[in-house]
Amino acid sequence: MSRRRKIYEGKAKIIYEGPEPGTVIQHFKDDATAFNAKKHEIIEGKGVINNRISEYIFQGLGEIGVQTHFIKRLNMREQLVHKLEIIPIEVVVRNIAAGSISKRLGIKEGTQLPRPIIEFFYKDDDLDDPMILEEHINAFGWASPGEIDEIMSTALRVNDFLAGLFRGIGIRLVDFKIEFGRQFEEDMMRILLADEISPDNCRLWDVETNKKLDKDRFRQDMGGMVEAYQEVAIRLGILNPGNNGEERPKPVLVSSNTSADKDKTD
Ligand code: TMP
Repeated sequence: MSRRRKIYEGKAKIIYEGPEPGTVIQHFKDDATAFNAKKHEIIEGKGVINNRISEYIFQGLGEIGVQTHFIKRLNMREQLVHKLEIIPIEVVVRNIAAGSISKRLGIKEGTQLPRPIIEFFYKDDDLDDPMILEEHINAFGWASPGEIDEIMSTALRVNDFLAGLFRGIGIRLVDFKIEFGRQFEEDMMRILLADEISPDNCRLWDVETNKKLDKDRFRQDMGGMVEAYQEVAIRLGILNPGNNGEERPKPVLVSSNTSADKDKTD
């Protein structure tokens, strides 16, 4: 499996060298971490589900003209993506107060925000990803003013797309985190949406019950994380419930038109 050169290993994914120049393979692990990896568990099946959910979302975004790193899914845990120079900023978009904004500003969890709010965090584990201002991004040259404008307008388009997608399946999009990178081709440079979009980096609440269908189940020791992720995938039409009367039904991947499932590596 690892005949390929590993370029980078993060908390939830591994990046391997790709088959062609300018590409890399993004491998989704089952590792779940929170609080800068102070909390860590292996959640069996998480990587497979996130690979599929992220593929589905990136394809949908591509169809509305958002440029992303996604090329194609290779197998159950891996995607072929464009090689990028990652911009070291986490872009968070919030529609409803939860998590760190609730704590920081004393806003009760669940409060509708007056409009979507974009926040930036500097990607640095040693510093616990501190919140930063556009001013820092500019002054330290992490991105140019033009790039920040593009990142912010894309983040809002992603928010509109995701909010609509999830609303259609009875899920409220509370907030999410995305990342961007630069692709260099000949003398051209463009900014692409990178990383992943999955219940690992979104807050998703059931519209009727407010049940959390995201990584807060792990952060807050609520249990049922994989079942919640499966629920999201089932509602998106990516998984079949596949209930064979088992205590914990094993969802079945809905077949797709790609040959990807045939050459799965695990
Ligand atoms: P926060 O409320 O903890 O700042 O999180 C905002 C959103 O960003 C939430 O959907 C979870 C996501 N997130 C990540 O994807 N990675 C992280 O390291 C953190 C802290 C949050």
